[in-house]
Amino acid sequence: MIITAIHGQNHKGSTYNIASLLISSLGDNEVHEFFLPRDLDHFCTGCYRCIKDESECPFFEDKDRIMRSVLQSDLLIFTTPTYCLRASAPMKSFLDLTFSYWMSHRPRKAMFSKKAVVISTAAGAGAKTAGKDITTALFYMGVPYIKTYCKAIQASCWDEVKPDRKEKIRNDMERLVGKIKSSKIRVGIRTRFFFSMMRMLQIKDMASGEYDKRYWEERGWLGKKRPWKV
Ligand SMILES: Cc1cc2nc3c(=O)[nH]c(=O)nc-3n(C[C@H](O)[C@H](O)[C@H](O)COP(=O)(O)O)c2cc1C
Repeated sequence: MIITAIHGQNHKGSTYNIASLLISSLGDNEVHEFFLPRDLDHFCTGCYRCIKDESECPFFEDKDRIMRSVLQSDLLIFTTPTYCLRASAPMKSFLDLTFSYWMSHRPRKAMFSKKAVVISTAAGAGAKTAGKDITTALFYMGVPYIKTYCKAIQASCWDEVKPDRKEKIRNDMERLVGKIKSSKIRVGIRTRFFFSMMRMLQIKDMASGEYDKRYWEERGWLGKKRPWKV
């Protein structure tokens, strides 16, 4: 299995360590790890050049390095500490910079057959809302299987996490591995519904313009083809 892990932080704290436990419990795999902002140190400028041609994004090279890894992976792991009840700013910036991958623009066929895990930690409150920032983006990119592990760990760093809590996290990761390995991927009704809404908007020229429409046309999605079908 190929795994891409995208960390919404450069440092190796609690969130990173939980992801590492998951990755090692998954066994021997090809793993690509990216750290934000180290590997994508930019904010979207709102220039919309990506809508015409994604390679015209001023940060295309850095972004494409990560997204090529994402597209060839079987499992995606996203991590973020909770900052002010949300995902970290570097993670949010990554999500902004990849908005052209959403179903409202140019979703990638490969995304409709991926599994993803979103891990977020908080000292007290907000891990769920932080995780939701990421699961929302993954849903709109078409990822059909998303598991979350969003935890309040009552600590500001991994060394402060109590041994019994670490043991529980270890067990949770073992269980999560079992689920990931045994679950089949099924594109759900919500994804199909949203895709067909976006398809209608493309057909009626009510979506985001001629470039996106051509993309949908070329893939046959304005006809009978669907990205989740072989
Ligand atoms: C800028 C900043 C904002 C934070 N905001 C929150 C918050 O809203 N809620 C919370 O419970 N913890 C918050 N924390 C604590 C971290 O989310 C928490 O310690 C987390 O487990 C750190 O993960 P890490 O070790 O991977 O960096 C914040 C920490 C920082 C540095």
